[in-house]
Amino acid sequence: MSSQPHPSLPYAARLNNVETSAIRELFKLLGKPGIISFAGGFPDAALFDVQGMREAVNKALDEEPGPALQYGASEGYDPLRMQLAQFMAATGIEVKHDGLIVTTGSQQALDLIGKTMIDPGDKVIVEGPTFLATIQCFRLYGADLVSAPVDADGVRVDELERLIEEHKPKLVYLIPTFGNPSGATLSLARRKRVLELAVKHNVLVVEDNPYGDLYFGKAPPPSLLALSSEVPGSRDLIAYCGSLSKVLSPGLRVGWMVAQPELMARCVMCKQFNDAATSTLAQATAAQYLKAGRMPQALDKVRKVYAERADAMGQALRRELGDAVEFTAPQGGLFIWARLTGAGGKIADAGEFAKRAIEQGVAFVPGAPFFAKDADKSTFRLSFATVGIDRILDGVARLGKAL
Ligand SMILES: Cc1ncc(COP(=O)(O)O)c(C=O)c1O
Repeated sequence: MSSQPHPSLPYAARLNNVETSAIRELFKLLGKPGIISFAGGFPDAALFDVQGMREAVNKALDEEPGPALQYGASEGYDPLRMQLAQFMAATGIEVKHDGLIVTTGSQQALDLIGKTMIDPGDKVIVEGPTFLATIQCFRLYGADLVSAPVDADGVRVDELERLIEEHKPKLVYLIPTFGNPSGATLSLARRKRVLELAVKHNVLVVEDNPYGDLYFGKAPPPSLLALSSEVPGSRDLIAYCGSLSKVLSPGLRVGWMVAQPELMARCVMCKQFNDAATSTLAQATAAQYLKAGRMPQALDKVRKVYAERADAMGQALRRELGDAVEFTAPQGGLFIWARLTGAGGKIADAGEFAKRAIEQGVAFVPGAPFFAKDADKSTFRLSFATVGIDRILDGVARLGKAL
């Protein structure tokens, strides 16, 4: 192998808008033996319904081998679109099968929305904090991101309105339910206000909802899309992104999008020269899985396990870290979002805390990279999803030693 450096190529200028992730640097350290990791954003692989998926893929190959292995329509495989429409109906969203398109993960839906909507220099409002990949993706299209503050009830709608008036954004991107990383859920009253603001200011609101089904106790308020029937004129201003990743399997890469027909048609056009279609084998498998009716059982299981882990982590944090941290116990999703208070002269910088934590053998993600602007350096994200309770307790005790 040559040890020569690669010649530099004239890369597209758009890449200059995107930094390599600070988080990736941290992930390099995770390979250290014995590290307990609260850093990932993944569901727990041990909870995957392997038997259900095996049966589904076999059925897809037995009953529909042609479509399952052939190229497929860019809009998605109709039997899956029908199943997804039914799946959404259970959460109060009325949509026909051709009112949604299947995407390769919801990540692709976000990329297609970016591609169809964002010109260089366009203002886009996101939550502070928000999903890192969306920050990067929208920046790649040249978005000038504006950060709207979030509290325990989700995005602050008074600030959101002020920012919409000031910046006249192309779109507003929200994760209203069990946000990543904030864990926060937008209250019902605020949801209605967001819909009113969309209509009043004629602005597209992207509702990213991969975690909405992962609730621990009672169900969260209905999605913006479901509530749009109560606010005249708002439905066409919502672009809803759903995903099977967190409830079934991220490896399937099956997500979907519901939006007004014109926006969806443009997204489909872009998808044609992106991946042509989402894997037909994955779509046929997902359709068979949903048709077999295994989803409610699978959801019951993951909700229960994640609820126990979230509770164990929350209690341990209060016990081991006391007033050095503050956080709101999440009601669903995969994350606890916490803030170092600096009480009693204890550490207040989460980047520094992350380094000390690695030395103690525990990893998490500092919060700063999740802010498009004005990062709050005292914040950090802990995932409780992939770690058993014993290791959660051990890991949080190590966090206590890193203070
Ligand atoms: C808020 C949010 N949106 C979208 C995604 C992308 O999920 P997928 O492409 O697997 O559907 C994730 C994954 O972590 C996420 O946290």
